[in-house]
Amino acid sequence: MTSILRVEGGHPLTGTIVVRGAKNFVPKAMVASLLGNSPSELSNVPLIRDVDLVSDLLRLHGVEVEFDHKRGVMSLDPRNVTRAQRSDIDALGGASRIPILFCGPLLHQLNEAFIPELGGCNIGGRPIDFHLEILRSFGADVDKRPDGVHITSPTGGLQGTVIDLPFPSVGATEQTLLTAVRAEGRTILRGAAVEPEIMDLINVLQKMGAIISVDTDRTIRIEGVEELQGYSHTALPDRIEAASWGAAALATRGDIYVKGAHQPDMTTFLNTYRKVGGAFDIDTEGIRFYHPGGALKSIALETAVHPGFMTDWQQPLVVALTQAQGLSIVHETVYENRFGFTQALRQMGANIQVFKECLGATPCRFGQRNFLHSAAISGPTPLHAADITVPDLRGGFSHLIAALAAEGVSRVSGIDVIARGYEHFTIKLRQLDARVEYIGSIVQ
Ligand code: EPZ
Repeated sequence: MTSILRVEGGHPLTGTIVVRGAKNFVPKAMVASLLGNSPSELSNVPLIRDVDLVSDLLRLHGVEVEFDHKRGVMSLDPRNVTRAQRSDIDALGGASRIPILFCGPLLHQLNEAFIPELGGCNIGGRPIDFHLEILRSFGADVDKRPDGVHITSPTGGLQGTVIDLPFPSVGATEQTLLTAVRAEGRTILRGAAVEPEIMDLINVLQKMGAIISVDTDRTIRIEGVEELQGYSHTALPDRIEAASWGAAALATRGDIYVKGAHQPDMTTFLNTYRKVGGAFDIDTEGIRFYHPGGALKSIALETAVHPGFMTDWQQPLVVALTQAQGLSIVHETVYENRFGFTQALRQMGANIQVFKECLGATPCRFGQRNFLHSAAISGPTPLHAADITVPDLRGGFSHLIAALAAEGVSRVSGIDVIARGYEHFTIKLRQLDARVEYIGSIVQ
């Protein structure tokens, strides 16, 4: 069954909403609690699907998880970690990519781990080759079987190592951190990802007793320690959700104060927002995003790893670019297949073409290959309502923005996917005077 939202467009979004902890940090901090010999407490935890999923996966492994979602406080007690049933892991594993990050902590706690068939958004091939290579380099035995990947620790435990990442992968960097902190000796990771979510995971691990240093050249050094204790930590705010509401304010000619939005994590987004013609005011509590009137300006944009323009900001902002004067170019360099969502925007009247060429300053890994990873957006084009289906998390939120900016009444189905990463999004839409209502579910 999937839910359908009826959206009456053409009304600017105005008002205040609150964003809580980052979807791309909180589940990793929850997994890190497995490494401790005492309970952990995590605050600013959002009520999103990915948090529920990881809570269930941790419970399967004997971790006691208490979540007061009103206060956003979660306690995690790993003192009775146990082996989980494969079938139970399988049942949960297919909905996200997070299970792969359980490997390091489980190898330290149980000397074995299992990776089921992984899920996550269909925005590219999303291989796990870096992860498996990293685990092997710590000395683990990695056995790929039809039912999943079985991993066991070497006699004598995991050993520190040297890793050169071919691409600054967020997941592979987290895999290394969660494995190296209790491995024997020193680990050097070169070419690491340094996203704010990674830095906050390093904050958590350091609170647990880890020794981690980060050099300016993307080299991370970790001194393994025998024991780690529980942590108490407040999660950084979700800069992707904050930027998504910013894009919604622009596309609907609205004015949204995002309480909790944090400027230092969004510098690149804010620069781009201003270049497009968006306006923002920053105070200690959050950021006000608004359309200052007049025409929006077209831009040439290239996604990149941090501190570049984040790939997850791309889809929501593209909707606003359909309303900009002239031709905008977007070169997606992190995922090879992240323009599927533009099909629905074309159906609503947008003028968007997608290309296999690298339409940007830097040729990327996907150039000369068969991937539609650049887009040309010509605007402004009035958007009209349509019946559309959510393709993935960020594509789904961009579809909501398009329906809110369009003239007429749209029906957006498959909106459950959006709950994976946007807390209380329909309540927030109503707080912003959006005219939305659930109109039931259809059997998929
Ligand atoms: C994390 O995904 C985020 N997800 C993604 O957010 C985000 O887009 C991405 O980082 C980049 O910032 C979570 O944190 C749960 P990667 P992750 O490993 O870790 C290739 C959202 O909408 N690669 O940095 O899976 C990969 O195919 C989601 O919130 C390999 O080739 O991303 C991709 O092209 C979407 N082999 C690139 O690296 C590997 O073994 C970046 O992936 C691993 C990755």
